[in-house]
Amino acid sequence: MKAVVLGAAGGIGQPLSLLLKANPAVTELALYDIVNSPGVAVDLSHIATPSKVEGFLPPDDGLKKALTGANVVVIPAGIPRKPGMTRDDLFKINAGIVRDLATGIATTAPKAFVLVISNPVNSTVPIVAEVFKKHGVFDPKRIFGVTTLDVVRASTFVSEILGNRSLSPSVSVPVVGGHSGVTIVPLLSQSSHPLPASLETSALDALINRIQFGGDEVVKAKDGAGSATLSMAYAGAEFAGKVIRAVNGEKGIVAPTFVNLASDKTGGDALKKELGKDLEYFSAPVELGVDGVAKIHGLGKITPAEKVLVEAALPELSANIEKGVAFVEVPK
Ligand code: NAI
Repeated sequence: MKAVVLGAAGGIGQPLSLLLKANPAVTELALYDIVNSPGVAVDLSHIATPSKVEGFLPPDDGLKKALTGANVVVIPAGIPRKPGMTRDDLFKINAGIVRDLATGIATTAPKAFVLVISNPVNSTVPIVAEVFKKHGVFDPKRIFGVTTLDVVRASTFVSEILGNRSLSPSVSVPVVGGHSGVTIVPLLSQSSHPLPASLETSALDALINRIQFGGDEVVKAKDGAGSATLSMAYAGAEFAGKVIRAVNGEKGIVAPTFVNLASDKTGGDALKKELGKDLEYFSAPVELGVDGVAKIHGLGKITPAEKVLVEAALPELSANIEKGVAFVEVPK
């Protein structure tokens, strides 16, 4: 199981690489960045876990060497937000970075499972897919937008409202839609640990808002030094770990993730019907399997208020997706 991190020397990349090094299911770890990746790799290589670690820089075909034989590629490369910025403000710079990295994956490791962390995820996932289409290697089951941090935040904040932080690892809340502001839709009515019936509407609204804009809390607290890195690394390693377990044959693993809805066989069409919109991508609970996406679940039973939130997410989501697709013009 060769895992590759593209952007491995960054704020997310370093702790994410550490957590992947600590995962015994990973047998080989390749770290690529435009700076510092060999140093990070040597540092991690002293940790007594099975995987071999190597670092690569752009010269001498570094990207190609890093990607050769890759099973799972995680992409946290690109600039993070500063206070006052939206994720869409990052598009200008990150779109080109993700396109170029995706080109490397499409040509060197077209069968790899690609996990996109770089923002804006709602646009960068379509960029990866369009690059893959251009190279004739697109498989909607193998490309994932990592929305796990929204899920992790929902677990944490719900456990706080329940007054018991120790519950947080077992609290599970499906978060659907996309990965930016109003496109982040927590389905709190489906929380594994129900919220108290006495919870005031204003407190529920505040909780939803906190899950949607939790990233802003971190951006503000870091005061210009970036956005979530450590919690993102934790979330990214969680999701990568689930993909690896599923690819290794474990059944029944379900996680929300932003995926392409092209494949009827995996449930994409049914979800589109449920949404009443012909969206190309959506984040939904996805059952993972040996080939990646095994089944995209629907929204399930949602409340009228949650339906309003889903409706509110669709226009921004749709615009973000179109922007990503348009960035990589596919010759028809
Ligand atoms: P950072 O600036 O600390 O690290 C980014 C790394 O990418 C740097 O080491 C940089 O050298 C590298 N890089 C830049 N261009 C590259 C290229 N062409 N090839 C390879 N590496 C390249 O940023 P940070 O905080 O690690 O954030 C990375 C991205 O993750 C940002 O776009 C951020 O918005 C996003 N993010 C996503 C989250 C999610 O939930 N999906 C949560 C938090 C951040």
